[in-house]
Amino acid sequence: MSPSLSHSRRQFLALPAVAGAVAVLPGGLLAALARETPALPDLSDWTRVRAQFALDPAYAHFASFFIASHPAPVRDAIEAYRRSIDQNPFLVIEQGLFEDEAHNVPLKVQTTIAAYLGGEPDQVCLTRSTTESLALVYHGLPLKAGDEVLTTVHDHYSHHESIRLACQRSGASMRKITLFEDSAKASTDQLVERLLQGVKPTTRVVGLTWVHSSTGIRLPIRQLAAALKARHPDVLLVVDGVHGIGAADETIATIGADYFCAGCHKWMFAPRGTAIVWAKAENWARLQPTVPTFSEWESYNAWAENRVPKTPGNAARMCPGGFHAFEHQWAMAAAFQMHQQMGRQRVAARISGLNDQLKKNLAQNRRIRIHTPMTSDLSAGLVAFEVDGMKTEDVVKRLLGQKIIASSSPYAISYPRLAPSLVNTPEEVDRAARAVHELAG
Ligand SMILES: Cc1ncc(COP(=O)(O)O)c(C=O)c1O
Repeated sequence: MSPSLSHSRRQFLALPAVAGAVAVLPGGLLAALARETPALPDLSDWTRVRAQFALDPAYAHFASFFIASHPAPVRDAIEAYRRSIDQNPFLVIEQGLFEDEAHNVPLKVQTTIAAYLGGEPDQVCLTRSTTESLALVYHGLPLKAGDEVLTTVHDHYSHHESIRLACQRSGASMRKITLFEDSAKASTDQLVERLLQGVKPTTRVVGLTWVHSSTGIRLPIRQLAAALKARHPDVLLVVDGVHGIGAADETIATIGADYFCAGCHKWMFAPRGTAIVWAKAENWARLQPTVPTFSEWESYNAWAENRVPKTPGNAARMCPGGFHAFEHQWAMAAAFQMHQQMGRQRVAARISGLNDQLKKNLAQNRRIRIHTPMTSDLSAGLVAFEVDGMKTEDVVKRLLGQKIIASSSPYAISYPRLAPSLVNTPEEVDRAARAVHELAG
């Protein structure tokens, strides 16, 4: 549980188990695992980075953003935690979750994530998916009848449904605006203007998506947030950042979002079933938890003393409790360390370079229409396109027939997508582009 609390559950319940834990795990779990886990490999060139993935070499993988293949450092970390939990389930979980600060594994994970985000460990809440993060935030907000949540027609099912369900429960309403007619021609000025035009006196919350999985557009969140706050300082901004984190070079803690929700099992390559919400203390304090936490002593102590928590809400209180697949959650740190070692700027430049290469190549064919902006200022790692006269599912199927894994966007209007990422080479990008040209004729 949150290590900042003055007394532990063990002290509270006077449990003797810690002595056994220390005996079995001398020096603590973290030190023992550090000894067992290999150091990060050399990631100084892209061939070495690609070699970390156990992807089937028979295919060119252009849908890695859908769900991550665990790279070797993440596989090693999961395996080390899994082995230790299998050997001593009680001792390892007890020590990892409920021991003092030095032994608290989630705190170590939050510290590593915070360094990547440019924030503080106690601003990070560990969850299991973007969907869960969004649902926890919207259901946690103090919405009431007469309040409005403003979002856009461009967002994902998980975001729209999180808002709709929270509004249904609270009596608030939701409204969707259009930020652009043609994603490929959008401009920052137009996006800012449309957003500001959409805000009404009843708007309490705005929900936006950083990189759209429908068209690949990357919203200029920093500029949108600044414009929103300048005119409406009390309106809260929730960002679905899942396709930006690990793909774009941004200091997320200063981007201007009040709540930044993101799965880490896509571009970050963290274990499948891991995600975060990031927010500052004042915004955590606004939220009401939906799931009882196992991460904060005040919640537990208040329950034991038959009272409500005395302190303001915080990230730990919002972290969904119950026992989880801890080997996955705890191994998140390995993915963030890997990204730190590769360098955020270098990663973003590589992804943007491969995506530019693909867009420029496809743009030569008039029978291929690209929906993602050509400029890297408004795009990241996804290229959504159409082939004249071909259905989306047929494009994806025909590419698969050539061992090129594309995907279709899961929206009312669906486009084929190719997502060049760190697992791809420039040669693979050219091969994928050639295959699309052949389809277009
Ligand atoms: C924009 C966007 N938001 C949310 C999700 C759902 O992500 P998760 O599987 O982490 O809940 C997706 C899925 O890819 C997505 O594209």
